Amino acid sequence: MLNRRIAVIALSAAMAVTALAGTASAADGKKLYMTCAACHGKDGKTPLMPAYPKIAGQNKEYVLQQIKDIMSGARANGQSVAMKGVLVTPDGKPRFSDEELNVLAEYVSKLAP
Ligand code: HEC
Repeated sequence: MLNRRIAVIALSAAMAVTALAGTASAADGKKLYMTCAACHGKDGKTPLMPAYPKIAGQNKEYVLQQIKDIMSGARANGQSVAMKGVLVTPDGKPRFSDEELNVLAEYVSKLAP
């Protein structure tokens, strides 16, 4: 049941990213973050599942590195596969440009911890 619910959320988050694709003006961290809010909470500290990390106010470089590691599979903990599915297409293509990831990391780092 729970897994199914998470799958639905991950899918809708993925669709939100697809909807953004093409606008490419990565300037809007808040908009981009909508994809992440489904799991990490709108404020970055009210995660969907208790085991999901609070990320608000984390160091920008750290945030960026974790996102990249989860996307590449370098970080593959029990839970990270849920996030990977949202950031990478099934055939392995990233859904966000480097610039967008940078804007996202900046946005997350500025959320009140
Ligand atoms: C489908 C749910 C889901 C979505 C959507 C999601 N994440 Fe995550 N995220 C997770 C989970 C689960 C983890 C913990 C992974 C692990 O156990 O290694 C995580 C880990 C992280 C971490 C590492 C936190 C730490 O303390 O090490 C960061 C940073 C992060 N996510 C940022 C984001 C950003 C930015 C987005 C939007 C682009 C996003 N996540 C979208 C589920 C999600």
